[in-house]
Amino acid sequence: EDWQERGATVAVRQEIDANGKTVSRYIKKGVRDFSFGHVLGEGSYSTVVLATDRQTLNEYAIKILDKRHIIKEKKVKYVNIEKDTLNRLTDHLGIVRLYYTFQDERSLYFVLDYCKGGELLGVLKRMSTFDEECTRFYGAQILDTIDYMHRRGVIHRDLKPENILLDSQMHTKITDFGTAKILKTQKRPEDGSNGVLPIDSLDISQDDRANSFVGTAEYVSPELLTDKNACKASDLWAFGCIVFQLLAGRPPFKASNDFLTFQKIVGLDYEFPTGFPSVARDLVERLLVLDPARRLPIEHIKNHEFFDGIAWGRSLWKQKAPRLK
Ligand code: ADE
Repeated sequence: EDWQERGATVAVRQEIDANGKTVSRYIKKGVRDFSFGHVLGEGSYSTVVLATDRQTLNEYAIKILDKRHIIKEKKVKYVNIEKDTLNRLTDHLGIVRLYYTFQDERSLYFVLDYCKGGELLGVLKRMSTFDEECTRFYGAQILDTIDYMHRRGVIHRDLKPENILLDSQMHTKITDFGTAKILKTQKRPEDGSNGVLPIDSLDISQDDRANSFVGTAEYVSPELLTDKNACKASDLWAFGCIVFQLLAGRPPFKASNDFLTFQKIVGLDYEFPTGFPSVARDLVERLLVLDPARRLPIEHIKNHEFFDGIAWGRSLWKQKAPRLK
């Protein structure tokens, strides 16, 4: 199996050879290079554990997957999607970075950025709602990251506050790319920027299972429910749901079961709570649009009045996060 080899990151280690000479060796990191701490999170197919690199003392979150379970449940493809996607998205502060992958007899390991602040959902629950300033800041960081992902030909397809982590500076990092879709070819973006990237031989966008994937009920786009097809605009639907949720304290479409939630989504059946800021309401109404082709494109979202005062691009990531209130 070539899983171990592709995209492997190596570490340099200084060693003394038989002649007493110091030589640099490239050595792949492995389980023994880390000391493992407490469990950070658990999913259906993985456990994320805090770990420290024994040499550098850097902290990481290591996602551990049980190989037998992955194979038995036919999730090998998704594990590869996650790895390939993360290896494609290494150049942005808003994405959880993958440093190393390795395996032992029993498990696969993904060595990822440790996000000390935990999930955005947890922070939101503690605060119950965010004010406009916080929503603008976190919303801007999330949107800037979606923009980067889309330019690199990746649709996340399961954006939600559980998949948005916060680092020690309270900056957002998007995680969980196991259900992402890598687009094979891309049209030049309307803004004429150099978003064109020939995507190499990965054959996963052809996969029926990947295409028929349904994310988390509350954030699923109507086109996924009606046409079983997700596109870049599907991530912007989820973004609209998240902006609504940060200000309202609950997602716009929520019912007692998934089926009823889906009915609300395809019927655009949601209401703003009283006191919801009107400029934010206008933005959400332009995102929660049933026809994905008529949803506000990223460049227009950035220019929407709600994001007035945001300096897009690199400086967004140098900014101090507003105090939560
Ligand atoms: N839970 C899941 N992934 C995590 C990460 N990268 N950092 C902190 N907590 C997590």
